[in-house]
Amino acid sequence: MHLCTFESREKTRMNQRHADQLVASFRYFEPCGAALIAKVFRNLSDKHPNVRALFPEETGHLNKRFFDTLGQVVSNIQRFHALQGPLGELGRRAEREGANAGHYRIIRSELIEVMAELAADDWTEELDCLWRQTLDAVSGAMLAGVTVAEELRAAA
Ligand code: HEM
Repeated sequence: MHLCTFESREKTRMNQRHADQLVASFRYFEPCGAALIAKVFRNLSDKHPNVRALFPEETGHLNKRFFDTLGQVVSNIQRFHALQGPLGELGRRAEREGANAGHYRIIRSELIEVMAELAADDWTEELDCLWRQTLDAVSGAMLAGVTVAEELRAAA
C-alpha cells in the first residue's frame, strides 16, 4: 500500500519543489505521451473492460489530447482554480458516458502504473504520491463540474 507522507499543509497547496518535480516528470514522458495513454487504454481493455467501454473504440485522436490535458494541469498546479472550469466541462462530457468516481480511481491507478513501468528506476515513491494527488485533484474537479451543472439545473 502507498502512503503519502507529505505534511498536511502541502496537501492543500503543493509547494514549488513538488510542482517542479511534477513538471519534470511530465516532460520526461512527453516524447511518448500519446503512446503512454494508448497503453493505459490497452490495459483498461484487459483489466477493466467496463471502464474502457466508456471511451470511443478508436482513441487515436484522444491519446494526445488526454496527455496534453495532464500537461496543462501540471503547468498550472499552483493555480488550480483556473483549471476548474475546463476540467468541469470534461467531467460533464465523461458523465454523459456514465463515468463515476470509481472509474476515475481506476484510471488514476492505471495511469500511475504505466508511468511507473515506463520510468522504471527513475520512478520514486514521491513521484507516485505527487501524481496520485494531482490525479485526485483532476477527478475532483471533473466530478465537481457535474455537481455544479446539477445544482444550476435544480435552481433554474
Ligand atoms: C471515466 C472517466 C472518463 C470518461 C468516461 C471520459 C470520456 C470521454 C469521451 C467519451 C470523450 C470524447 C471522445 C471523442 O470525442 O471521441 C472524452 C474526451 C476527452 N477527455 Fe475524457 N473521459 C474520462 C476521463 C478523463 C480524464 C481523467 C481526463 C484528463 C486528462 C480526460 C480528458 C479528455 C480530453 C482532453 C478529451 C478531449 C476533449 C476535446 O474534445 O477536446 N478524460 N472523454
